[in-house]
Amino acid sequence: MTTGSDAVIAVSGALLDGKVALVTGAGSGIGRATSLKMAGSGARVVVSDVNEEGGRGTVDAIEQAGGEAIFVRADVASSADIQALVRTAVETYGRLDCAVNNAGISGQASDGRTFLPHEIPADIWARVIGINLTGVFLCLQQEIEQMLKQGGGTIVNLASIYGLVGARGSAYVASKHGVVGLTRSFALAYAQQGIRVNAVCPGYIDTPMVAGVFTARPDDANAIRAGHPIGRLGVPSEIADAITWLCSDASSFVTGTALPVDGGWTAQ
Ligand code: NAI
Repeated sequence: MTTGSDAVIAVSGALLDGKVALVTGAGSGIGRATSLKMAGSGARVVVSDVNEEGGRGTVDAIEQAGGEAIFVRADVASSADIQALVRTAVETYGRLDCAVNNAGISGQASDGRTFLPHEIPADIWARVIGINLTGVFLCLQQEIEQMLKQGGGTIVNLASIYGLVGARGSAYVASKHGVVGLTRSFALAYAQQGIRVNAVCPGYIDTPMVAGVFTARPDDANAIRAGHPIGRLGVPSEIADAITWLCSDASSFVTGTALPVDGGWTAQ
């Protein structure tokens, strides 16, 4: 690692050379793009998802590009699955340097219905909080335990613009505000142990999750697009770049931040 005055010109390799990275929700969208970017930056990647087909597809794409990865099926809402996931990562590659807690779901019902806050059904509330917030917490606990043993690491949680500002869909908004809170608490608790914890807060990114939202609410699509001052949706690789930087030594003085990558949405 280079810091401060010793950061003179150095011929360096890729950003994550020699690192071991874990990505949840890695079978699709931002998680897949991040896994590919991290593998392309020199990391060996533990690709995890509840969706086996998607996860294995990501591993295939990494291997075809000459990278190294394994797939481990895990549901982030299951404490037993997450314990087994981190154990398998360490048994396979010996350590865990970078973790990306990315798995998440939108707050809409399976038939596309959305709800006013006072009408959210209890099962949808429990599912969104269970995956988006408790899932991140369960991952953080296991990742931190391993990183304390080895003396450091970096973690990035996927929050959202809706971790920073409100919207009517309050289960998703509450879960993502919670992720920002968890990020700050964990960053402060382990800053002295060489563990950095940050959140990325994407605007709307062109992934299957957003395609699902647009299909359910086609009238909202143009307004959402126009809500980004840059005038378009983001693409997964733009989030993957920010995550990879936050996981690397290039961001060695950054911890506890919730970084918007949102085409200007939260600047308004
Ligand atoms: P996506 O739907 O394309 O991919 C999410 C992946 O998570 C899927 O492969 C899915 O199988 C997996 N997953 C879902 N529940 C899971 C569980 N219980 N355990 C393990 N894996 C599970 O979604 P996308 O858009 O790539 O989103 C990734 C993250 O980024 C989510 O946390 C999302 O809330 C966040 N985000 C996405 C934005 C967007 O506009 N696409 C904007 C802001 C945040």
